[in-house]
Amino acid sequence: MSVLSNFDLIFFGATGDLALRKLLPALYFAYRDGKQPAGWRILGLARRDLTRDDYLSLLGDACRHHIPAADFDDKAWNAFCEHVDYLSVDGTDPAGFAALKDWFAQSGERVRVFYLSTAARLFGPICEGLAQHGLVTPQTRVVLEKPLGHDCASAEAINEAVGSIFAERQIFRIDHYLGKETVQNLLALRFGNSIFEPLWNRGSVRDVQITISEQVGVEERGEYYDPSGALRDMVQSHMLQLLCILAMEPPTNIDADAVRDEKLKVLRALRPITAANIKEKTVRGQYRAGAVAGKPVPGYLEEADIPPDSQTETYVAIKAEIDNWRWSGVPFFLRTGKRLPERMAEIVVNFRQVPHAILPPSTNSAEPNRLVIRLQPDEGVKLFLLVKVPGEGMRVKPVALDLDFAETFKHRQWEAYERLLREVIQGNLTLFMRRDELAAAWRWVDPILEGWRAMDEPPKPYTAGTWGPAAASALILRDGLAWREET
Ligand code: BG6
Repeated sequence: MSVLSNFDLIFFGATGDLALRKLLPALYFAYRDGKQPAGWRILGLARRDLTRDDYLSLLGDACRHHIPAADFDDKAWNAFCEHVDYLSVDGTDPAGFAALKDWFAQSGERVRVFYLSTAARLFGPICEGLAQHGLVTPQTRVVLEKPLGHDCASAEAINEAVGSIFAERQIFRIDHYLGKETVQNLLALRFGNSIFEPLWNRGSVRDVQITISEQVGVEERGEYYDPSGALRDMVQSHMLQLLCILAMEPPTNIDADAVRDEKLKVLRALRPITAANIKEKTVRGQYRAGAVAGKPVPGYLEEADIPPDSQTETYVAIKAEIDNWRWSGVPFFLRTGKRLPERMAEIVVNFRQVPHAILPPSTNSAEPNRLVIRLQPDEGVKLFLLVKVPGEGMRVKPVALDLDFAETFKHRQWEAYERLLREVIQGNLTLFMRRDELAAAWRWVDPILEGWRAMDEPPKPYTAGTWGPAAASALILRDGLAWREET
């Protein structure tokens, strides 16, 4: 039986890639697993002049492509489609919202979720149009997709426009990394186990590395990506969110504001990176033609919609520092890039060396303990311990205590969007960014962008299929460290 009351989910941008590839498939799974009330409704909105049947056929094709065949059940799909409707509405023309009003008239008062999967410049006008047509009720929620601005000022302008219609408790700013199973698990690991907290500080941790590497290039998203680059696309959002959850103080409970207050403190404690130290603290890279997973791929400048002289970074590495008691002196190395050798996201916590070595020196006896939290593809946690190699003599070697989530919990992993949509429907804001958090993240990122502009150097080239420019290894080597690259 469902714990939810009836609700309407309305998607602006319903024919877009995100809706067809992620959002609607996530809802299909939620439906198939029987977690929805009988009267829930989904409404797709987009400019394209389609009938409901046209939309269902478009959706069916997309979902058959994106949902694994073993999970696609025709009967469940047809039943799911009964809940889906479509209207051709132009988000830039609120006159069309009258049709929306009629659609709502068919149902009584219930939770309404408007999911804005459109360009951010439309967020303000759409919210205004909704308000003008009396479609915003106290039970209404709005979901905003990234990118939320391209700097602090533009993000604030969006927040101002949306905030003039919706109260903060009604606004769900999505960062899909917060919906990933292992990110949730980070909370469980840190705050459900007592063994980590005494070690989770400058006394025991030597350095932290956060990597999100992708094999894909810019794909067909050049128009969006080129004005953004890796810093805005990945660091300002996903990587800083991971950093916050990893570094924050224990919140007093798991409620939205308790968690978000602590994340905000981390963002505010980040040491500024400016033109003065930008060279020492950051590396920008841009991929050139190469081969990824054995297949030749073009360079960034040869991709569709990319200006031939573009200086946009497709790779970034940063040494971040958190100026507070817990983390003073512990470097947090962040790196992310497209066209790297593998698709992988992981957090590595390297602990300090033992204070006094009594084991005979060998190649491995200086290896510190290491906790590796793998977000994707094979989600799990590994704790590397030094153990003795069996046999004569005292030879030691790092071996992992290996917790593989797929192996341990043999059920389907939820997609990030599936979890986040369920959280929106239930009105739980813990996994969504608050306005002040977003502003604080931009406040740290803006001076880096300014520093790069002042430096006026092109990004360093790297060959597709390699781990980024050599300068990224030099960045971490300056602290006597190396990126963890073996899998
Ligand atoms: C998106 C970025 O937010 O995250 C993309 O805009 C990136 O450029 C994607 O590819 C990565 O997400 P995931 O879940 O595939 O790691």
